[in-house]
Amino acid sequence: MFSSRLKWETATNRLMQAVEARRASGDPILDLTQSNPTQAGIVYPADVLATLSDPRAMLYDPDPRGLLFARDAVARHFGCDLRRVVMTASTSEAYSWLFKLLCDPGDEILVPLPSYPLFDYLAALESVNVKQYPLRYHEGWWLDLEDLERAITPKSRAIVVVNPNNPTGSYVKTEEAARLNAMCRKYDLALISDEVFSGYVLDGEAHSLLDNDGALTFCLNGLSKLIGLPQMKLGWIIAGGPGHEEALSNMEHIADTYLSVGTPVQYALPSLLALRPSIVGQIRERCRTNLARLDGALHVEGGWYAVIQVPRTRTEEEWALLLLEKDGVLVQPGYFHDFEREAFLVLSLLTEPGAFGEGTRRIRDAITA
Ligand SMILES: Cc1ncc(COP(=O)(O)O)c(C=O)c1O
Repeated sequence: MFSSRLKWETATNRLMQAVEARRASGDPILDLTQSNPTQAGIVYPADVLATLSDPRAMLYDPDPRGLLFARDAVARHFGCDLRRVVMTASTSEAYSWLFKLLCDPGDEILVPLPSYPLFDYLAALESVNVKQYPLRYHEGWWLDLEDLERAITPKSRAIVVVNPNNPTGSYVKTEEAARLNAMCRKYDLALISDEVFSGYVLDGEAHSLLDNDGALTFCLNGLSKLIGLPQMKLGWIIAGGPGHEEALSNMEHIADTYLSVGTPVQYALPSLLALRPSIVGQIRERCRTNLARLDGALHVEGGWYAVIQVPRTRTEEEWALLLLEKDGVLVQPGYFHDFEREAFLVLSLLTEPGAFGEGTRRIRDAITA
């Protein structure tokens, strides 16, 4: 009766079953996976909701690319031409529009591994297949561009980079971007750079692809992470490089079909951007504090996550279950993010520092026991 685009699995995984059982029994959980800033004890300015009351928002006069007013705010914030900007309801929606724009059913997009777990679903919903290319770790993360090139087929349409990546926290380096551009030109691919965490530099410097002109490039961002306001549902695509005008005029048809971006949040955008320093300052400070207290994490350059390696005496799932059931600590096993091998655990640096300190102490004790 239903489409085969998704497997529509309803079974809860073992870790989530254990979380539900623990909650039901009333036992406390030190949650080191909290990555929703609105539930992480961040103090938001009192006037956040007041930004949504602009009287101009009573008029419904949509523009498929997003209101000029909002595109102008994005363009000013990032220092780019507003003609390069298209507003979306979220970064996830931006992906779906780009897959519609670039792919026919059965085409492929290349995504990093490990990375953000939603790609499989976003692609499947557009009847697009995902091919993974690896990030490798040696004193820092790097893109395995040889493996990436080997994964390209005549059906490939785009390379996705998450910049900085979730959960490895690694930026795309200048020399990697140059080789990605060469590959995109050689195989006629577009480059999609997910930059939602780019403002959260923890070590080193950000490497945005906003000014990349070596390939058709789409940079994605949105309020979810840029200001820690996922409930506002506003994102955008900034296109650049050869052919971006034509790409955007084609995208306009997709956007016009949905007109999904709300008017009040678009009028609120300049005021929300003005509130950014206070919110982002807290998130950045928290991530830095937690990271500084964490011994032995893999090198993190930016973002909200840290990865720790644990002994392979147990599988990641066994570690996560043990930590939950014995120590009351909830972490994400690496396989949620498709790590190539075991055993890694992912911790959210957004966790309240008291819980983070105690949780990581218990993890350390469990590992050394
Ligand atoms: C790397 C990355 N991209 C995109 C998103 C989704 O952002 P949005 O809320 O704008 O859809 C997330 C959410 O966690 C993310 O981690």
